[in-house]
Formats: sequence, C-alpha cells, structure tokens
Amino acid sequence: MTTLRSREAAGDTDWWRSAVVYQIYPRSFADDNGDGVGDINGIRSRLPHLARLGVDAIWINPWYPSPMKDAGYDVSDYRAIEPVFGTMADAEALMAEAHALGIRVILDIVPNHTSDQHPWFQAALAAGPGSPERARYIFRDGRGPGGDLPPNDWRSEFGGPAWSRVTEADGRPGQWYLRLFAPEQPDVNWDHPDVHAEFEQSLRFWFDRGVDGFRIDVAHGLVKDAGLADVAGLEFPLPDGTPEGVEHPHWDQPGVHDIFRRWRAVADSYDGPRVFCGEIWVGRDHRLTAYLRPDELHTAFNFNFLMAPWLASALRETITSTLAAHAAVGAPATWVLGNHDVCRPVSRYARPQDRVREGFPSLQGYLGLPADLDAGRRRARAAALLSLALPGGAYVFAGEELGLPEVEDIPLEARQDPMVAGTGGANIGRDGCRVPLPWTTDGSSFGFGPDGGAAPWLPQPPDWGRWSTAAQEGDPASFLELYRAALSVRGGHPALGDGALAWVDAGPDVLAFTREPGFGCWVNLGTDPVPLPAGRVLVASGPLGDGALPADTAAWLALG
Ligand code: NOJ
Repeated sequence: MTTLRSREAAGDTDWWRSAVVYQIYPRSFADDNGDGVGDINGIRSRLPHLARLGVDAIWINPWYPSPMKDAGYDVSDYRAIEPVFGTMADAEALMAEAHALGIRVILDIVPNHTSDQHPWFQAALAAGPGSPERARYIFRDGRGPGGDLPPNDWRSEFGGPAWSRVTEADGRPGQWYLRLFAPEQPDVNWDHPDVHAEFEQSLRFWFDRGVDGFRIDVAHGLVKDAGLADVAGLEFPLPDGTPEGVEHPHWDQPGVHDIFRRWRAVADSYDGPRVFCGEIWVGRDHRLTAYLRPDELHTAFNFNFLMAPWLASALRETITSTLAAHAAVGAPATWVLGNHDVCRPVSRYARPQDRVREGFPSLQGYLGLPADLDAGRRRARAAALLSLALPGGAYVFAGEELGLPEVEDIPLEARQDPMVAGTGGANIGRDGCRVPLPWTTDGSSFGFGPDGGAAPWLPQPPDWGRWSTAAQEGDPASFLELYRAALSVRGGHPALGDGALAWVDAGPDVLAFTREPGFGCWVNLGTDPVPLPAGRVLVASGPLGDGALPADTAAWLALG
C-alpha cells in the first residue's frame, strides 16, 4: 500500500513547497455529537469532502484543553485534547484516516502565551513575587505610587493595557503580568530554559504521533526587549527608513530567530519532513523572509497578499516583491485569502477597493463602506484562481471553497470574540468568519450538527443553506465546483505549485503570467473585457465572452 510515509521514503519530501493547505477551525467545521460545537469526529466524518476537494493537508486550529477565553488560543495543556473536541483516540484516528487519504495534518502551537489556568501560571500566582515559578512568565512591579500603574506603555491586541495586576496571597494588589492578548493569556518568558524545554517536548509529543507540521501562533512575538522599554509611539510594522538597529520592543525582536533554529533542529531530527508555518505579521518582505532562512521555518503566511486590495497595481507589486524576497532565501511563497481572524474574502472584495484602508483586514475596518456582494463573489472566485496559480503553496480557510460571506449582523450579545469585551464593544471582533459551516440546504443547523441537536455556538443566518456543500454539489457555476476543478488541474499540471512565473503585459488592469510548461493565468481587474491569448481554457472563474475575459474574471489556459 502507498502511504504518506512510503511516498516520503520514495523521495516525495518537498510536498510542503507546493501544498494546498485547508484550514479547519474545529469549533465551526462539523459537530458530530450535537452539542453545538464542532469536534474531531465531525472532522473525521467530513474527510471524504476534503479528499474530493483535492487538498494536500489540513491545518487544525488549537484542539488542546482550554478554558476557551480566546477560542482555544488559551491553552492549559499542550499535550492533550480538549474534551469538547473529543479524545486522544479520536485525534489519533483522525490522523490515521487523513493520512490514508493522502492528506497531511498540521497542528497549531501557541508559544507566546498559555492559559491563565495552565498549571505553570497557577503555580506562579501561588508562589509570589521573586519566585522561580513567576520567572517563567513576565511579572513586574507596577510604576507610580503603590505600583498602581502598569510597568510600561505596551497595549494589548484586544484593547487596553497589555498588563494585568494580581492580588497577592496577603490580599493586597500585587505585581503585574504581561499579556499581549486577553487577560487570561499570560505571555511566557522565552529567556527561561523551562519554556524552551516545554515547547520542544510538545513538538516531539505530536511529531511522535505522526503530525506533519505546526502553524506557529504569533511567531514574531515570543521575544521581548530585555529592559521592557516603552513602545513610545514607535509604529509597527516599522516604517520604511527606520534606522538600522531600531527595533520594536515586543514584535519581531531579532532574538526570536534562535528559537526557531532550535525548533527546526527538532523537526529535522524526524524522518520525512515535519514542517512549520509561521503566523508572522511584520509588514516588510525581508523581515518576513528572515524567518524562512534554510535553518529556520519552512513557510510563513503571506499576509501582504491577503491585505492587498483588488487592484491590479497593488497585487502585481505584492506578488513581485513576495517572490523576489522568498527566492532570496530559497523558500516557497504562500498565498492566503482568509483565515479565522479576518473578514471573509467575498465580503472584503465587495467593498469599493479604492476606499479600503490599509492594515488589518477585519470586518471592523469595512463598517460603513457599501458592499456589493455580487462583485465580491466574482472577485473572490477570480482571486481563488489567481492564488492557486502562483508559485508556491496556498491556504484555503474552511468555507472559502463555498464562497461563504462574512456574517456581519451577529448581535453584539451573541458575539464571543474576547476582542469585543476587551474594547467594550467598540470592535465587533472576528466572529463573522467563524460561523459554523452549512453542509445541507436545510435542517436545524444546515448539517453542521445532527438535526435537532444543540444550536450552533454562533448563530447561522436563516438562508445559510444556500451556500451549503449540498446546494453546490454538481452545479458547474458554484464555488465548490470551481475549487474542485482548479485543485484537480493543479494536482496534475507540471507547471503549477512551486517554481517561477513570467509576467505578460496585457494592460494595466490585467494580471497575466505564464508558467512553464505551457500554462497561462489571466485575471481581469478592470471594467472592460480584455482579449485572451490563443489557448485551451482549463478553468475559468466565470462565463467567458467570445475569446474575451470579462471584468473581475480569471482564466487558466493551456498555451501551445
Ligand atoms: C493569532 C490567532 O490567529 C488569533 O485567533 C488569536 O486570537 C491570537 N493569535 C492570540 O493567540
């Protein structure tokens, strides 16, 4: 029998350079036991869908025991399974079944912070100031009279100061601990040898169980400035022209690279590639690709591509600079259109693209901008073909293959994202892209859970079934069939995946490139149809005029 490991033994070790990785947010994918929250057995039941879709790997957001203050990114045990999601036996069965279908499994590791319920943090609270237990986190005395002010000016990503104050055993207000995210997510101290040992042991624990890789949460945040210097207004990402040697005190500190060199050595000690993908928000390409040097991470998410508006000039520039920077370190690029933190592409591209502001592409940033969802859908379909034709690997966030829109009208009281509470409701957070998936046209949760089971953990819109897998199956004009067709061509075409491209000048509003042997991708971002070169159409994101490519449409061509 051909297994993944036997394929690796036969030399198929570079799969990750071209892989299409499907992201599964386990709470929202499929609910097998009917409690309203997705689970591992739900994922198992849908593996045939993924095999039919044609993806190479799945990345599963954290499935470890967690109080769920940040949907699993607050981990209380890195080497076990959260009971809401299932058991270790379920997880092992999932890995075996995925592997049998030729699908690799990538987990999510959260090394910047633990849950406040992690035994280490509980011990640190109990042990008091100056104790070895507190040294594994970042505890400091406060500033000002009585130590009543946070130790520095750092801000939490979820709003407010990045510090929380503890009450000491004698009942008095005591030290402060750093938490760049929610108060229940204390940052660990990467200067401490126990922290290195703990995380390296967790990597091994899962590699020993056959896991193929890890997505690394907030990879650019682990190391903090030794003196915890104030940010003092320094912008991040660092603007162009920032003098050499000026670094942000808690993002992208140079010391972080040593951690990943050690992790790479752990991964490389296994047979067959065990790979890393960094979640790294650092702006400039060369800062990103510094993480991808040959002895560091294998890949990183390309957020610059995700953040680029649907404008030919912006996309051309991003693609060109991405490819140049990755080539310089010998790493493959990745192409990312969405994930569980950002507004879904259909709804993002529905906004007037010359008015979307730069920066983190959350729904919050689009409120107030009119949405043309038909245009959003056309563009998201074209963007899918573009991203799957570019050199390197690609990510597909569950539901992108169905063209799900962002659910924008979840009532504030139903929203679960800690960002909502952290900002006092000023930021409506990230729930809109996390709404449980529709699998069937009707039923109490559109097939997310068993009919009559508990209501899904986030409310689904009443018309959610129209985007379901069942509604799209067999419809050649659907998102699902577009993704299937594209992945099927990609899987068999020698020009696609890792490699290079050559731009073709087809006008300022057209992205056109060829790849050898004999492949062309044409994307029209203008308003008028443009001529296509002679060639056989392999896949198109929408109906083609007579030899012409309509606005907001992409086509893949077999060129002579
Ligand atoms: C990035 C994750 O993608 C996000 O969902 C989470 O809230 C933060 N890191 C904190 O872990």
